[in-house]
Amino acid sequence: MPTSQSPDRPEKQRVAAGALSANTHLLRWIEKMAELCQPAAIHWVDGSEEEYDRLCTGMVASGTFITLNQDLWPGCFLARSDMSDVARVEDRTFICSLSKESAGPTNHWVDPFEMRKTLKPLFSGCMRGRTLYVLAFSMGPIGSPMSQIGVQLTDSPYVVVSMRIMARIGREVFRLIDEDFKRVVPCVHSVGAPLAPGQQDVPWPCNQEKYIVHFPETREIWSFGSGYGGNALLGKKCFALRIASAIARDEGWMAEHMLILGIENPDGEKIYVAAAFPSACGKTNVAMLVPPPHFQAQGWTISTVGDDIAWIKPDAQGRLHAINPEAGFFGVAPGTGAKTNPTAMATLSRNTIFTNVALTPEGGVWWEGMTDEPPASAIDWRGRAWTPELAKTTGATAAHPNARFTAPAHQCPTIDANWEHMNGVPISAIIFGGRRATAIPLVYQAFNWSSGVYVGATMGSETTAAAVGAVGKVRRDPMAMLPFCGYNMGDYFRHWINMQRHLSETPRIFHVNWFRKDAEGAFMWPGFGENMRVLTWVFDRVRGSGRAKETPIGWMPRYEDIDWSGLEFPKETFEELQAFDPLAWRDEVIGQEELFITLHSTLPKELVFERELLICRM
Ligand code: OXD
Ligand code: MN
Repeated sequence: MPTSQSPDRPEKQRVAAGALSANTHLLRWIEKMAELCQPAAIHWVDGSEEEYDRLCTGMVASGTFITLNQDLWPGCFLARSDMSDVARVEDRTFICSLSKESAGPTNHWVDPFEMRKTLKPLFSGCMRGRTLYVLAFSMGPIGSPMSQIGVQLTDSPYVVVSMRIMARIGREVFRLIDEDFKRVVPCVHSVGAPLAPGQQDVPWPCNQEKYIVHFPETREIWSFGSGYGGNALLGKKCFALRIASAIARDEGWMAEHMLILGIENPDGEKIYVAAAFPSACGKTNVAMLVPPPHFQAQGWTISTVGDDIAWIKPDAQGRLHAINPEAGFFGVAPGTGAKTNPTAMATLSRNTIFTNVALTPEGGVWWEGMTDEPPASAIDWRGRAWTPELAKTTGATAAHPNARFTAPAHQCPTIDANWEHMNGVPISAIIFGGRRATAIPLVYQAFNWSSGVYVGATMGSETTAAAVGAVGKVRRDPMAMLPFCGYNMGDYFRHWINMQRHLSETPRIFHVNWFRKDAEGAFMWPGFGENMRVLTWVFDRVRGSGRAKETPIGWMPRYEDIDWSGLEFPKETFEELQAFDPLAWRDEVIGQEELFITLHSTLPKELVFERELLICRM
């Protein structure tokens, strides 16, 4: 596989050998990085299937991958990460803008010159004994005016094969760089585990010290020490959200942590909706929602454009259009099953890389929530024997709560016909949602754009296992972007408010909460496919036919405004689920204020006014 092995040849020749680009800036940068990281070999990734197969075979030989039973799971592999490298590391994620004010109080800021001084010794020789892969990738369909290009240098073959699923990579992207002079976002990634001559590698190399670093002004990403998900697949959170949000602010568009789905009614009328939920709050389930039988029989359909990220731009007529910049799903496995998300189960049934799920005796995979009945035994995500009895006595889960599947989007049975449309799909509604046990109703609609921005800006949610840290604590997560906004959150709110000026038609804005609990602590709403009832109300509101009543927080459906066919759902339960409790909202507004105080110096006055209006209405 390596194209060049000799450590004595000058970097220039090593980089030129097998080069897939003639772009001199790119070549010089790679030479510089190779000089710094001192890899044993350099490999230009062409993105072909043969290359993918060779890399996977190599990882099976090195112990990083386990080949699953190919009759049951064709084209699928299992990886087990190091126990310390299982999720995004938000406290090791840095926005290194020139001024601290540009990063804002919700990001970890380090002076860029200081950070470069820190990174240099870390990266110096960090790829010794390993291959440096030169991986060109397009976020968004190749050739779309809405797409952006990056080149990731990485010493992780796991990252290369995962990126082949999650983005468009390889020769075609190098061609765009050479022929269309597309601007490249340079991304450097190392697992930070150099190998001494003769040293035996481990299945999941990584470093206890981690740095996930963004330079928004120079549009650069540097990632050290982790091989996991958003820390290492740099096209995803680092580029498509943190760096892209800064580009989008400068260019007048929006990079958002949102799924995109299509809703089509029985008359063939279709709208597209973008929805922001914090990590591990069921975005993939909503994006792949299966309507209840009654809706299916009537002819309602849901189609999937994306499950995590939306790049949204006004077109020449001032209508927002969105693309999904990704090409795959990096979904949370636990909780995904034939009952909760049969579409995801079909999507991940082949050509999928599983990480940190359990291995069954037949050579298949399993995780909590995949089936009602657990397997009689399994090897857990740490490689230890696991049984349901052990789980009962010790609480040990078979899969890590943040175990993931990495699956190609084109395998999704509900993938939308326009999911790769060069100009994206028109967005008619935006939904914000959080995981909230109390106070927040199932659904309401904001009064207008600025009150909708207020609803998004004050979103709160209970924390999940997607990031390292305490789970289940309510934190403010504006627009689900708290860990992903590449600049000052107050300026980000200003950008949202300003976007209205570029729009001839603003999407309707809604808030949902599938997770409200009753006094006994039980979920009040069945969720999953039944969320269709909420989506059809959203559809009707967008089309101007849906009815609603005004409340202090926004427009809410009455019981009779929702289609209940096929579901016994008592009116009293619906009213409890929708209840606006002034006392609980008093606490809610006080909680919202904490974030506003933190952002005080850049908070747009519109949001202060919206807050005052809300308090007056209450
Ligand atoms: C993700 C996340 O992986 O939000 O999508 O953490
Ligand atoms: Mn996400």
